[in-house]
Amino acid sequence: MSSAPPSSPALEVLLSRASTDHLTAPAPDKVQIARILSAGLRAPDHGKIRPWRYIVIKGKHRAEFAEQVVKAMISVDPEVPEKKIAKRRERFSEMPMTIALVMALEPKSKIPVQEQEMSVAAGAMNVLNALHAEGFGGFWVSGDFADQPCFREALGLSETHRLAGFLFVGTPDKPVEGSKRPDIDNFMGFYKGEPVKFEADR
Ligand SMILES: Cc1cc2nc3c(=O)[nH]c(=O)nc-3n(C[C@H](O)[C@H](O)[C@H](O)COP(=O)(O)O)c2cc1C
Repeated sequence: MSSAPPSSPALEVLLSRASTDHLTAPAPDKVQIARILSAGLRAPDHGKIRPWRYIVIKGKHRAEFAEQVVKAMISVDPEVPEKKIAKRRERFSEMPMTIALVMALEPKSKIPVQEQEMSVAAGAMNVLNALHAEGFGGFWVSGDFADQPCFREALGLSETHRLAGFLFVGTPDKPVEGSKRPDIDNFMGFYKGEPVKFEADR
C-alpha cells in the first residue's frame, strides 16, 4: 500500500516534505510570503473564528526580536545558562525569516478553544507544505518563553492571543532528507465492526 507511487504532483509535495532548520537566504519575498501564508487560511475553521495571525520577522528586525526572546527566556528562568541564551539569540538573529504563529482565540465562543487551536496548527502545517512546494524550507519551534508578558508586549498580543510557536523560514542549504517515516500500515486500520488495533501501539 505504502509503496504505490504518488498519484499527483501535489501529493508528491506532501509526501516529500520534511522539516529543516539548515536555512539560508533567500527567504520568500513579500509577494511570495503572502501567497504562502494564504495557504494557512485554507485550514478548517469551525464557526469561522479565523484564529490565524502571522507576524513576519525579517531583515534588521530579526536581531531586535532575538533580544525580546532573550528577555522572555530570562523572565522564565533568571538562571538560564549563557550558552542557551547565546544559541537562541543566534538562531533568531540569523534565520532568514521567522514567522510568529499567533492564535487569536475566542474563549467565550461556543466553539471549543481546543478546536480553535487545532485550526491554527492545521494552518501552520499548510504553511510548511506551501513553503516546501515553493522550494523553501521551514521548521516549527516552540518554547516556554512564548507566554511571557514582555514578549507579548513586544508583539502586541492581546489577552486572548497566544503563541503556537514560530516557524523558521528560508532556503535549505542542502537537500532535505528528513527522518525515515514510519510505515503507514502501522498507523491506519479499517473499521470492520470490531475495535481497531494498530501495530504502532504494540
Ligand atoms: C508545535 C510544535 C513545536 C515544536 N517545537 C520544537 C522545538 O522547540 N524544537 C525542536 O527541535 N523541534 C520542535 N518541533 C519539531 C520540529 O518542528 C520537527 O517537526 C521535527 O524536528 C521533526 O521533523 P519533521 O517535521 O521532518 O518530522 C516542534 C513541532 C511542533 C508541531
